[in-house]
Amino acid sequence: MTIRVATEADAQYAEQLCQWYVESAKTRGTGIAKREPAYVAKKMASGDGIIAFVDGELAGFCYIETFDDKTFVVNSGLIVNAEIRKGGVGRAIKQAVFDLSRTKYPQAKIFGITTSLAVMKINTDLGYEPVTFSELTTSEDFWKGCKSCKNYSILMENERKMCLCTGMLYDTPEKQLVQVQVPDFAALTPTLPLPQNPATETDSAL
Ligand SMILES: CC(C)(COP(=O)(O)OP(=O)(O)OC[C@H]1O[C@@H](n2cnc3c(N)ncnc32)[C@H](O)[C@@H]1OP(=O)(O)O)[C@@H](O)C(=O)NCCC(=O)NCCS
Repeated sequence: MTIRVATEADAQYAEQLCQWYVESAKTRGTGIAKREPAYVAKKMASGDGIIAFVDGELAGFCYIETFDDKTFVVNSGLIVNAEIRKGGVGRAIKQAVFDLSRTKYPQAKIFGITTSLAVMKINTDLGYEPVTFSELTTSEDFWKGCKSCKNYSILMENERKMCLCTGMLYDTPEKQLVQVQVPDFAALTPTLPLPQNPATETDSAL
């Protein structure tokens, strides 16, 4: 398996990837947001995509989107060739796009919304936690991506507070750090009398 940051030259795969998005949406019955090849090619050209190959053949893709002045990052459009799923490619792509996100946008919160159990498992292992939508971006640009989902009316009826997807968030380690008070163990240890040296006692008894 080869996994790398996608480049402008990978635009030749954009059409195929978009075809997989359409097929996946049909199979799952839930709307994975529709993407245009030009948009996917743009992500490749800007160095915001991770592309995978198995035996020299296109195997999968995922890309980064930023919102709210780059304070929120989404790893979006994860897709693996249906013929080679459950072989670890999805996990490997997700790890690579996560690492790329942390490198390019180290201060950003990384989040996603998903109905996919595979994605929930992968995200959990990466350190994401389930959250309500209130913890995610309020950017119109992000939520308009849900318009092509068949559950969009449910999202809007609930004022974007909840829907069928689970929200998952990875906060930066600096913010996850908890202040721990370390007790002064020296002060807690009672002062005990020093034991007498038995050898000395014997000596003195002689
Ligand atoms: C989701 C997807 C990318 C996963 O890719 P993949 O290569 O099959 O994933 P992996 O083989 O790396 O599996 C990762 C984990 O998910 C689990 N998994 C994979 N497919 C699963 C499924 N359909 N149901 C439940 N668990 C699944 C694997 O067992 C593995 O867990 P484990 O390591 O604890 O055993 C792939 O199924 C896909 O392209 N689906 C269509 C598009 C899609 O749903 N994208 C996500 C939109 S949010």
